[in-house]
Amino acid sequence: MILLDKAKILNNIANENFKNAIDINVFDKIDSTNTFLKLYNSKKKLCVCCAEQQTNGRGRLGRSWYSPYRENIYLSLSWITNEHLSKYAQLSLLIGISIIQTLKKMDVYKDVNIKWPNDIYYKNKKLAGILTEIIHNQMNESKIIVGIGINVNSDLEKLNNNLSSNWISLFNITKKLHDRNSIIADLIVNIQNNLEFFLKHGFGEFQELWKKHDYLYNKQINVNNMQQKIQGIAKGINSFGELILLTNDQKIISLKSGETTLSQI
Ligand code: BTN
Repeated sequence: MILLDKAKILNNIANENFKNAIDINVFDKIDSTNTFLKLYNSKKKLCVCCAEQQTNGRGRLGRSWYSPYRENIYLSLSWITNEHLSKYAQLSLLIGISIIQTLKKMDVYKDVNIKWPNDIYYKNKKLAGILTEIIHNQMNESKIIVGIGINVNSDLEKLNNNLSSNWISLFNITKKLHDRNSIIADLIVNIQNNLEFFLKHGFGEFQELWKKHDYLYNKQINVNNMQQKIQGIAKGINSFGELILLTNDQKIISLKSGETTLSQI
């Protein structure tokens, strides 16, 4: 088992010709890498936090995130912006795409897809999740925190609970252990490069890749959000990153947020 190693991460990043100043914090144990970055101040533009274990790893919708010691990737990135937040409307979709690009180096790539808005699936099981949080300071700036959990070296088949039937790890797929340092370095580089491009040119260029990896496309799904529960057939996303749904009563609608599930697998 290869441990997390800041020098290795930095070295891998340098090999990718990455020029931006970056503040990397690696912990053995922490409550949550997202929570750490919420409170952490740095002079560097991009801050990163990863840990061998999270004692209070957080998922979306108040769920907890399974974070066993030395097995998986628990990674958060943060930066300060004074841009209008509408510019970041498709951010979590972009992060999903960056994870897919990162996995391109591995032989799992063609079966890895994104379940709108931001779950990464291998076939019908969850491989990774994204938790994006935003906080505001008194100077009219926002801090954006993107948290990524990827099941890398856990043997989830060994667990005899919900996780084993609905979740999967890279280890379960490839039957080998992976070096998290190089995956983390690739993620940082891909996210930073995509973000720069996205803030200049918008989401358009990424839509093709989304289409190729759209887990829900043409499937009968349920969408739950604060306002409603809707059923229909997923028809991809629009240029705002909203889910297009052909509802069961034959209306085309678009949804900004929600939790999606397949009606039947
Ligand atoms: C989801 O529910 O799918 C989102 C999971 C996000 C988990 C990651 S692990 C690193 C970061 N720190 C946290 O506490 N959560 C995110």
